[in-house]
Amino acid sequence: MTSFEYVSGPARVVFGPGVLDRLPDEVRRLGRSRVLVVSGAGVAANETAGKGTADFAARAAANLGPLFAGHFAGAAMHTPVEVTRQALEVVRSLDVDCLVSIGGGSATGLGKALSVRTGLPQIAVPSTYAGSEVTAVLGETDESGKTTRSAPEIRPETVLYDVELTLGLPVPLSVTSGVNAMAHAVEALYSPDANPVTDGLATRAIGLLRRSLPGIVADPGDLAARSDALTGAWLAGICLDTVRMGVHHKLCHLLGGSYGLPHAPTHTVMLPQVLAHQAEVAPAAMRAVAEALGVRDAAAGLYDLIVSWGGPVSLRELGLAAGDLDGAAERVAVDGVRSLLGAAYQGIRPAGPAAVPDFSALTGQVLASFAATPDPRVRTLVTDLVRVLHEYTNRNDLTQREWEYAVDFLTRTGQLCSATRQEFVLLSDTLGVSSMVDLLSNSRTPETTPSAVLGPFYVPGPPPEPLGADIAGGLPGTPLWVDVTIADVAGEPVAGAVVDVWQSNDDGFYDVQLPEVAGPVLRARFHSDAGGRVRFWSILPSEYPIPDDGPVGQMLAGTGRHQYRAPHLHFMISAPGYRRLVTQLFVAGGAYLDSDTVFGVKDELIVDFAPGKGTPPDGRAVDGWHQVTYTFRIASEETASEVIAEEKP
Ligand code: BEZ
Ligand code: FE
Repeated sequence: MTSFEYVSGPARVVFGPGVLDRLPDEVRRLGRSRVLVVSGAGVAANETAGKGTADFAARAAANLGPLFAGHFAGAAMHTPVEVTRQALEVVRSLDVDCLVSIGGGSATGLGKALSVRTGLPQIAVPSTYAGSEVTAVLGETDESGKTTRSAPEIRPETVLYDVELTLGLPVPLSVTSGVNAMAHAVEALYSPDANPVTDGLATRAIGLLRRSLPGIVADPGDLAARSDALTGAWLAGICLDTVRMGVHHKLCHLLGGSYGLPHAPTHTVMLPQVLAHQAEVAPAAMRAVAEALGVRDAAAGLYDLIVSWGGPVSLRELGLAAGDLDGAAERVAVDGVRSLLGAAYQGIRPAGPAAVPDFSALTGQVLASFAATPDPRVRTLVTDLVRVLHEYTNRNDLTQREWEYAVDFLTRTGQLCSATRQEFVLLSDTLGVSSMVDLLSNSRTPETTPSAVLGPFYVPGPPPEPLGADIAGGLPGTPLWVDVTIADVAGEPVAGAVVDVWQSNDDGFYDVQLPEVAGPVLRARFHSDAGGRVRFWSILPSEYPIPDDGPVGQMLAGTGRHQYRAPHLHFMISAPGYRRLVTQLFVAGGAYLDSDTVFGVKDELIVDFAPGKGTPPDGRAVDGWHQVTYTFRIASEETASEVIAEEKP
């Protein structure tokens, strides 16, 4: 059971290409009329927040028209307090009543620093994947270092996500900024405050960023990829705002704050190493990350992706000195931090499965080889099987030994098959495939009796018996009087129906399993009378183990499953003009009804096999007899084919 507290920060978000044009409406919505636009400075802005930030500020100013009061273009990384002081003077001198920050984390930071000192509302227009535009956190630096504070009023009131503003973000910066965003989502998954909302946002964010970054690397102007990346960054930003971050952020803040390493590239180098570190601490979160990334191992997989996107993988290339590693490690109370930092310094690929080749070409070749299959249904069934098998093999990293075991298992399954033993059907039954096919084929006419698996013990052409016969052949057991009626869906009796029945003996064996039994016993063919009825004597069925002396038995034992079927009586009912019904009646209160090893039990087929009262219906003298009565409803061929035709698209 999980427990959590969940509080989400209020913010108005406007997302889409060109939404910068809606800036004046958003200012008016806040009831304001004198806007200060803040952004990074000239060249520096191009380096940190993408080309054209200055243009965006100019565009914003033009859009604002009479609402524009001024522009402060001095935002700088880590939000220096001195810069904030200068900007505050501008705010006061221009009598500003609203702040608009345009650009990366530096512009957003300055907007927050001004807002928290003046109480002015802010509109953030981010041009990177920083995520800070949706958080209530402000980090500032002065001569004595970095201080961080958090308060709801720090969070911008409105965020305009204009995808077009991100088109000019250079590829290397898009990659590091994107991985920085991913880090917000990753740390949310193992945060002590993790909850279903942030779990969902985090995995979606990781998936969106993983999908979009290669597209951006290939074509930085790909609007769809840019839109996905910005969406991912936003969702990851909500995670950052909602739950506490962990070891990754602790390390990155130290490396940025005390050793001057650049923010987003540091996140990019550290994240795969931290994922490797977390594999033992937070295995479930790491599985979720791996799944969202579509890789087998989160750490190695992300490292490989960053390499393929051309991102940095070592702290050395970011300018850290080897001599700083010991000192940095001492300042973070995290187990194993020194070796983590050492690996990050050198850019060592985290241990994990070796980089895997791309199998899609092989799968494609195999699929293409079936292109000329004349029957389209055959082509679909074969190619989809190939797809699923390839995916299974790849996803599970199947070893040569495991594959050989599987081949041997199937070989032994086939070798055991004979006229009286069908190990493949048994395998299908115990894997639930038979029941699935049965449901797909036979559950479309709800007004008829449900079907159930045929099983391996039906023998075609059972001995015909007259109504009222005893099919037990003298075998010991509790006498059972069976009285069933065959009817159509309107309840009208179906006369002359061929009703085959078969069951196991008191010890749980069918005649075909007993070498000492010469002919058919506990199996027969009846014909329903004019009232649709079939009556006969047998013995009460009991639970029984399915054959366990072959590969299927090994599979059940090896996986800790039992091999029992709930007690039941088999029926196969055919009549001209009607759909054949293969089903079973289960003894109410019998063992294993909830865990039938072939998944064959359906509620409507569980019936009372009640103790009989008084003299048996045919006057026979038996003690302790039981009886079962039931009406089977069978579908006419017409009804069945109509239902199937309706369900076909
Ligand atoms: C049976 O009920 O006879 C049966 C069905 C599936 C597997 C094994 C036995
Ligand atoms: Fe059976």
